[in-house]
Amino acid sequence: MAAPTITPLGYAMGAEVTGLDLRRPLDAATRRALYEAWLRHVVLVFPDQNLTPEQHIAFSANFGELDDHASQAPETLLDGHPEILVVTNKHRLGKPSGTRNTGRNWHTDLSYTVRPAKGALLLCQEKPPVGGDTMWANLSLAYETLSPKMRGIVDGLEAVHDVTLVKGIGQRDPTIVATMKARNPPVVHPMVRTHPDTGRKSLLAGERISSILGFSEEESQALLDFLNTHATSPEFVYRHRWRVGDIVLWDNRCTCHVALPDFDQTQPRLMLRCSLKGEAEGRLAEAAPAANREAMIQAVAALS
Ligand code: OGA
Ligand code: MN
Repeated sequence: MAAPTITPLGYAMGAEVTGLDLRRPLDAATRRALYEAWLRHVVLVFPDQNLTPEQHIAFSANFGELDDHASQAPETLLDGHPEILVVTNKHRLGKPSGTRNTGRNWHTDLSYTVRPAKGALLLCQEKPPVGGDTMWANLSLAYETLSPKMRGIVDGLEAVHDVTLVKGIGQRDPTIVATMKARNPPVVHPMVRTHPDTGRKSLLAGERISSILGFSEEESQALLDFLNTHATSPEFVYRHRWRVGDIVLWDNRCTCHVALPDFDQTQPRLMLRCSLKGEAEGRLAEAAPAANREAMIQAVAALS
């Protein structure tokens, strides 16, 4: 098998991989080369790969075990292939799609479960004439560019991730939303993760975080706003303009991403996603109340 050509696409991350036909199994050397390229470039783009569901699943399995999507509503999975999530604004089974606005705020896939995905492979099957772009932010760069003092603070923090913060979830089919909520109670993850393959630390930022454990609501919100703005600043971002047949593979252990609504929603967009099963385990959040600012004011007043 000839070695693939790997062309960097951006400073923060991203590389295009050409010279491979992904319909065929990879030999061991090519698999190793791709895995190394993935760790180095974080987001890999494979153009012109119109794979069948079986081929998509087989190619994805080169990068890890597949998630069975038990966290998702069954209606949003491809018939006969639960390893594939259908992200589309097209009607499905005569109803508005349960994923018509998937990914509209910055997120790390499946961070609202105890096992966020290791990575994902998204295949573009249909797209509007312009727009429908996706952006990824490099959360290792985000962590490494915080001041040493701030790194020291976030290093020890844990945060609550909540599926109800998925943007636009209220506009989806209520049955699907009810399933998503029932399957995914709030969970806690460390704010700083260590990448199991590279040892590099990254900031688990994103807009599906409701609070930082131990902080008051006001403190949480201010710090989360700062961290999210920092993490998603343009210098850490790769923006992908899709072409039909693109497969994009991202490392979900050190990135977050957002699906932009920058297109005419009457035009069909259809993406198929395999998720790689996560290695790290979070824990279910306890219903402990946040530290309360007003109660603290009253406590101090009582002493003086
Ligand atoms: C996803 C997702 C992005 C997009 O499938 O995880 O966020 O642009 N999709 O569809
Ligand atoms: Mn996503």
